[in-house]
Amino acid sequence: MQGKGAAGRKEQKDLADRIQALKEERDAVILAHNYQVPEVQDLADMVGDSLELSRAAAERDEAVIVFCGVDFMAETAAILSPEKTVLLPAADACCPMAEMVTAGEVQVLRERYPGAAVVCYVNTTAEVKAASDICCTSANAVRVVQSLEEDRVIFVPDRNLALYTARFTGKEIIPWEGFCIVHDRITPEEVQEARHRYPGAEVLVHPECRPEVIDLADHVFSTSGMVRHVCESGGEAFIIGTETGILYPIRKRCPGRRCFPLSAKAICTNMKKTTPEKVLKALETMDPRVTVPEEVARGARAAIGRMLSLP
Ligand code: 13P
Ligand code: SF4
Repeated sequence: MQGKGAAGRKEQKDLADRIQALKEERDAVILAHNYQVPEVQDLADMVGDSLELSRAAAERDEAVIVFCGVDFMAETAAILSPEKTVLLPAADACCPMAEMVTAGEVQVLRERYPGAAVVCYVNTTAEVKAASDICCTSANAVRVVQSLEEDRVIFVPDRNLALYTARFTGKEIIPWEGFCIVHDRITPEEVQEARHRYPGAEVLVHPECRPEVIDLADHVFSTSGMVRHVCESGGEAFIIGTETGILYPIRKRCPGRRCFPLSAKAICTNMKKTTPEKVLKALETMDPRVTVPEEVARGARAAIGRMLSLP
């Protein structure tokens, strides 16, 4: 659909018009993650990070949520709003990190470290959330861990986010060995090369990056935290250390800033599976639908609810 001249643009506009009409007919809201392709972000009612999208899923009034992201995000929406219909237009869009720990493994950790609190990253299955005490996202992981009474905290599944959180909390953090296949590949050499190529530019990285990458960065933010920082900090040039899809919302919201990807290879293929065509089909057929059995959802809702109730 991109760069196809007048005919392509008209086709894209017709598609967007049909989606808009059907969205109203179905009483639907379209939520999109910051890594989604530009055509999908442009269709969305809201674009944000995992925390913002979870809050929107809980608070919006529409009967149908079309989730343009990956499975755990749509699952979180279904857990928070069981009365709503949650659609995931790309049924096979998953997060490999969310598959790196199971509820059974969380149980084993609880037995090995009695008395420790269990914090799960939102990038987990509903079963793992149900087996945890509280959920967190990249935007609030430090705040969540600080809110706990326990001094010993099991943190699953992202070891990099766990180690990042440990820097600020003074607690004993027991990390699980999960990781994001996109962020974990970013290297300190890439940071050094980018600084050399773009002298004076600030380096922003996501907390899913390795500790040695974080050590070389100027700031660490969630995806929406990066957008806000670029818009509000007064800096002119930024090297962005996360999935490259984030460059679209940054450039759209702060067109005057110069932003460069830290790693052009940082692409999450699962986040690119949603297309406007799939969004239209999902609204037409009301499928693929994401549901979570209430016996699992109940426990998961408690863990997410504790997170959302923090100031
Ligand atoms: P954010 O919550 O920062 O948007 O991160 C989500 C994610 O999957 C990062 O890889
Ligand atoms: Fe999962 Fe990483 Fe993709 Fe985020 S970027 S959805 S953590 S694989």
